[in-house]
Amino acid sequence: MSILSGKNILLGITGGIAAYKTTYLVRHFIKAGAHVKVIMTPASIDFVTPLTLSTLSKNPVLSSFTNEDDDNDLWNNHVDLGLWADIFVIAPATANTMSKMATGNSDNFLLATYLSAKCPVYFAPAMDLDMYKHPSTEASFKALKSFGNIIIPAGSGELASGLVGEGRMAEPEDIVAFIEADILSKLPLRNKKVLITAGPTYEAIDPVRFIGNHSSGKMGFELANVAASLGADVILITGPTKEAASNSLVKVIAVTSAEEMYKAAHDYYQAVDVAICAAAVADYKPKNVAAQKIKKKEATFTIELEKTKDILASLGAIKKSQFLIGFALETNNEIENAKGKLKRKNLDFIVLNSLQDKGAGFGKSTNKITIIDKDESLTSFELKSKKEVANDIIKYLLNKI
Ligand code: CTP
Repeated sequence: MSILSGKNILLGITGGIAAYKTTYLVRHFIKAGAHVKVIMTPASIDFVTPLTLSTLSKNPVLSSFTNEDDDNDLWNNHVDLGLWADIFVIAPATANTMSKMATGNSDNFLLATYLSAKCPVYFAPAMDLDMYKHPSTEASFKALKSFGNIIIPAGSGELASGLVGEGRMAEPEDIVAFIEADILSKLPLRNKKVLITAGPTYEAIDPVRFIGNHSSGKMGFELANVAASLGADVILITGPTKEAASNSLVKVIAVTSAEEMYKAAHDYYQAVDVAICAAAVADYKPKNVAAQKIKKKEATFTIELEKTKDILASLGAIKKSQFLIGFALETNNEIENAKGKLKRKNLDFIVLNSLQDKGAGFGKSTNKITIIDKDESLTSFELKSKKEVANDIIKYLLNKI
């Protein structure tokens, strides 16, 4: 899956012959799973038609502040569009547009949107070789880079003028590869391996029955998705669940029992940088599992249970450089109980859910957490969706590693 999947990409096209290549650029972005909107300067419309780009991007193409064709939507909002974008790509970027970007000129819709955008801006220059080397163009490059914009260098080759040299816009597939590589290189969890446990465990009584719990696994899956989206290599060990990882970079290992989860966690633990135990592991399992289905005979029936292995505690006991995070679900004396687990299990921080908080805990789509650090400091969060909670936890982690 491309890192561009699901991203909102705004493509600004300016008036150079390389504009015709942007039809392929839009196709590549769409193929990568991005949402694309196109802005064209009036001059670029001479080189490639808005109809083509609108068809390929599946969105209307904008090129002016006003929209005469639609009485209900007369004004095109450059501020909203700038905020919509996760990435703004200006390709081709002509010498004229770059010099205007460098000086804050906003005399067309593309430039006004550029000034409004808060996202990373990439620009792919395209012009003739002498224009490319002109000191004023070099001054524009310098200014644009100093504003934090990212240049996608032009290549060398035959130019539309017939001259041969530097100034050719990077090829569409190279522009996509450049942006993907740039984003990946800046992800905060790149080169980090993260192990996450999630979901319930089922402890067999006989071939058809088990002891389980109501954990949905959602919290662990959301953590896995967030970590993967920040570049981590994620191994998600999950008990039985209906959840599916939305990020295909998450390696899912399905297990059933606490013993299987224990084994899988230990198989991977030595090689990971971070381990997060979010699973609701059964604390007890039947001491003997019946080989055949148990028949109902007596009025009462007793199952002897024995403790399962505590996965988190066992990981804490052999911890070397791993950063270890646990969860605690408490009903009373929450902070003290969670602090006890933090110490006993040798954790770096523990995420406390109190069942006294409405909307927190098992089977819910929301959670309300307090993070207790190993230095005993507390950070409390509002009731949020589990996705937002996962973001908070990973953000907290990023400040610690
Ligand atoms: N945990 C685990 N393996 C177990 C039991 C718990 O890895 N066999 C992990 C959970 O994933 C969670 C943390 O330990 O991160 C806390 O689990 P919890 O059940 O709340 O705590 P316990 O230590 O089992 O204590 P108690 O049930 O008595 O509250």
